[in-house]
Amino acid sequence: MQPDPTSSQPEIEALLVEQRTFPPDPGFAARANATADLHAEAERDVEAFWAAQARERISWFTPFETTLEWDLPFARWFDGGTLNVAYNCVDRHVERGLGEKVAYHWIGEPGDRQTITYRDLQARVNRAANALRELGVAKGDRVAIYLPMIPELPVAMLACAKLGAPFTVVFGGFSSEALADRINDAGAKVLVTADGGWRRGRKVGLKHHADAAVASTPTIEHVLVVSRLRDGCHMVEGRDHWWGETVDRQSDRCDPVPVESEHLLYLLYTSGTTAKPKGIVHTTAGYLLGTSFTHHAVFDVKPDDVYWCAADIGWVTGHSYIVFGPLANATTGIIYEGAPDTPAWDRWWQIVEEYGVTILYTAPTAIRSFMKQGEAWPRGHDLSSLRLLGSVGEPINPEAWLWYHTHVGGGRAPIVDTWWQTETGSILISPLPGVTTTKPGSATFPLPGIGADVVDAAGVPVPPGGGGYLVITRPWPSMLRGIYGDPERYRETYWSRFPGRYFAGDGAKRDEEGYFWLLGRVDDVMNVAGHRLSTIEVESALVDHPSVAEAAVVGKSDEVTGQAIFAFVILRAGHEPSDALALQLREHVAYVIGPIARPRYLLFTPDLPKTRSGKIMRRLLRDIAEGRPLGDTTTLADATVVDTIRENTGSAED
Ligand code: PRX
Repeated sequence: MQPDPTSSQPEIEALLVEQRTFPPDPGFAARANATADLHAEAERDVEAFWAAQARERISWFTPFETTLEWDLPFARWFDGGTLNVAYNCVDRHVERGLGEKVAYHWIGEPGDRQTITYRDLQARVNRAANALRELGVAKGDRVAIYLPMIPELPVAMLACAKLGAPFTVVFGGFSSEALADRINDAGAKVLVTADGGWRRGRKVGLKHHADAAVASTPTIEHVLVVSRLRDGCHMVEGRDHWWGETVDRQSDRCDPVPVESEHLLYLLYTSGTTAKPKGIVHTTAGYLLGTSFTHHAVFDVKPDDVYWCAADIGWVTGHSYIVFGPLANATTGIIYEGAPDTPAWDRWWQIVEEYGVTILYTAPTAIRSFMKQGEAWPRGHDLSSLRLLGSVGEPINPEAWLWYHTHVGGGRAPIVDTWWQTETGSILISPLPGVTTTKPGSATFPLPGIGADVVDAAGVPVPPGGGGYLVITRPWPSMLRGIYGDPERYRETYWSRFPGRYFAGDGAKRDEEGYFWLLGRVDDVMNVAGHRLSTIEVESALVDHPSVAEAAVVGKSDEVTGQAIFAFVILRAGHEPSDALALQLREHVAYVIGPIARPRYLLFTPDLPKTRSGKIMRRLLRDIAEGRPLGDTTTLADATVVDTIRENTGSAED
């Protein structure tokens, strides 16, 4: 729900009364990667701190000359340096004798498995890079990647990085239209996709979506297709190439292409307050530093850990904490292709037990689904290997935090509640597990080197105990460098609301001890199962249907997914409301954007509450969706409208 961050938040008030705190275990603290002096070191000279980290963590081909050039809001980090991300994530580990270390244990949903060492990964990345080169990809060319959670996904990302070819991963749950928009915005030359993948025991096709997309993407010259399902699929002669035929015959040697520190590494599209997704720009050195530093400090990763970030690589969490951060740190990771309930609700716990997973990173929405199924599922497995738990994607409610702590972490494992965004590239606010005393529901403090504040509408810092808007007060290495092709939108979206500071779009509150409590989005962006979707994108998808005249969409609080999409729809003359049409409209949104955007509730209404100037009053729609008493209605043009809508709400659920 869109909070008013300056008013009190009842759930959080209640928690503050509870005041439960969890200090770090002394044994854990004694061995922790990150110690308290990191904060002091960073504050003494923040640029010197990042420069030292960059020298220590990154293998450079040419050392950098300047640490930061800050021409607000445009940052350049580590200019003069050259490096290669794939070399840093793979080759250098093999060179220093870690070739036999496992990079990934991959588990397919039907139960097939692969164990991939760093040496295997190097050979796979090199063959894929050579294949892309054969298809015409060179430094600077963009590649789109639309794959399920199979090993070829990180391999393709690293192969692009090896060539200095920026990539954009499009989540496999997105529709062909969403894929086409992203390919066109990025101007991608090659698309890497698959025949399909497994989800909840079923084969889910992808190639037909890719084909539909490529019909309207003039820049795509070749499509490389992984055969995951082995059922064959439609292939276009000359354009489409099977991965197995094109990649497997390549040499397993490929020299990394050195790129400049600010070379574009990838674009990742995210929702904003307009219908056009934003291509978030991440560049090479700063991003690699931000992800590897935070992965080391926040997850406390040691050489013998088995680390599992259970996100999808199609979102930023997977980019930063399945692929780049962990591999830069030579970590052994788990990748699981499928759903947590397939074949049963203990699939994750079975994986934790079997592989001896020591670190687990997931989202509150997943934790709430597990809570709903009951603690018998985790109890049925030996989870004693787990020594650290992480949470990301939305505020974690204290009950979910405590359930995770008790039933997954055995009451021992510290929890790191990590706040960050696609734009920030890496975690900015989080406990350091050997240092910070945690409070359930609080992301605690900014990490070393990060400046964050909570300000009121005028940009003035709020005193302890107050709520307001979260801002980041200084540049950081993994920050977005812009919105692809749109510097003005970048400035306007992030740097104009509070001049000189980065506006994250989240409400936050700081308690008397300075702990940060995140309160959710303050703009028209919904957070559904930890993923951001803009209301306007869903509205545009609805209006795209021939029966719809106007639509307004809001997020309604949901026990499991955080928010669920509630759509109010006005039909065009000649169309009658019916259950069949409601179903058709929901499916239409899933078709246009992807299943994640399918509205849970859809209500036909003859009118929408508007101001006299014609602006839809979403605040009132949110009150209606939540079944709350209406807020201030003085600016409402026609008061009878809300009564009519309210009378109908009972029929909205799917
Ligand atoms: O609202 C915040 C929420 O997720 C948004 C970022 O979404 P996205 O770019 O998709 O990245 C998600 C994974 C990094 C933020 O603006 N969010 C993320 N982590 C937290 C959070 N809200 C509260 N607590 C968190 N730990």
